[in-house]
Amino acid sequence: MNREIFFRAASEYGTPLYLYDLGEIERRIKRAKDTLKSLDFKIFFAMKANSNPYLLKFIHAYGIGADAVSVNEYKMALFAGFNTGEIIVNGNGKSLEDLEFYIAQNPLCINVDSKEEIAKFGNKNAKIALRINPDVNPQTHPHISTGLKENKFGMDFETAKEVIKTLPSNLKMVGLHCHIGSQITKIDPFIEAFSSIEKFVRSQGIKLEFLNVGGGWGIDYKKDGTEMDLDGYRKIVVPFLSTLDMPIYFELGRFITASAGYLVSKVTEVKRNSYKNFVILDASMADLIRPALYDAYHEIEILNDGEEMIADIGGRICESGDIFARSRKIKIPNPGDLAVIHDAGSYGYSMASNYNLSLKPAEVAFDGEKLILIRKREKFEDILNLCLEDEDENI
Ligand code: LLP
Repeated sequence: MNREIFFRAASEYGTPLYLYDLGEIERRIKRAKDTLKSLDFKIFFAMKANSNPYLLKFIHAYGIGADAVSVNEYKMALFAGFNTGEIIVNGNGKSLEDLEFYIAQNPLCINVDSKEEIAKFGNKNAKIALRINPDVNPQTHPHISTGLKENKFGMDFETAKEVIKTLPSNLKMVGLHCHIGSQITKIDPFIEAFSSIEKFVRSQGIKLEFLNVGGGWGIDYKKDGTEMDLDGYRKIVVPFLSTLDMPIYFELGRFITASAGYLVSKVTEVKRNSYKNFVILDASMADLIRPALYDAYHEIEILNDGEEMIADIGGRICESGDIFARSRKIKIPNPGDLAVIHDAGSYGYSMASNYNLSLKPAEVAFDGEKLILIRKREKFEDILNLCLEDEDENI
């Protein structure tokens, strides 16, 4: 994205702020569709990656459904214009109240995470898919792996067999589901997972309306070419999935929005001690927690044209872990310079918090010409309001 857009956005809306390039979201959707084009497929956007309603509407316009993981995500999908028949429900440990809400909505499908969840439906009718945990190593960060037997998600094949055998007649099993992890770059874990599911389907002789293979497509955070092997996916995984002879559903999150999002912040201080240089930003782990939580790499660009130095880049939170990058080569900044954190469009704002009473940043979209404010910056009053008694005077 052109530097001038970052300057414009920062001066109009202040920092820190999330800026989204709509053109990039469009390109990512096209790449995904192009990879899958020889397949009977449908993509659902994993809203946990980014649940801004303006972006959801934008994504929906490309014929993409929604994958909601909470009642609030579900309501947001409806608000953004998705029909119930375009929404898939996910999530482990659903409460009875959550399930009641979903059942009344009659979504495309509710993905059932466990044998225990089946009982929670009582005698109500619902279309379900069983989430299979195929015990496959997705070769990604352990905190975002979900398809190993030690992970809390889904059910193993033995349990699924039992569930199928004893399924009450009010529940219609329309599909199977699996999601083995996130930020996956190799195709082998997918092949391993899908082959074992294929064997299971054949051995059980079950008829399904679809197979939902989840998401997990990784992106090139390091800008070194390491990303989901789309070519391999198209040449090897897609032909394999075609042999299953049923529609294949995808729940992509990161792949669609990550590279379209930037966290635009300002350098507040350049601090040197005898041991290290530190660059402190007005953004923090409260705005983007991925580096602190997963040691995730995000490219950080200082918008000036000076000399370079090595520094740790941190945020304004009182916590040693509030570091975006360690020993990173960057342009020597001056306080007030913009620092742009790349690939922040997935699991950025959606994981933001109010730690240190940080206020959540504004969100702005760029449509190739103009900037559009798509979520206002949070205000202190928004937080305080939640703490007031009903009869308290409003501030
Ligand atoms: N489907 C299910 C059932 C999921 O649990 C997830 C993500 C997705 C789809 C979408 O996965 P994606 O295509 O975005 O990889 N906060 C972490 C990522 C957690 C992913 C959780 N589940 C991060 O910032 O890396």
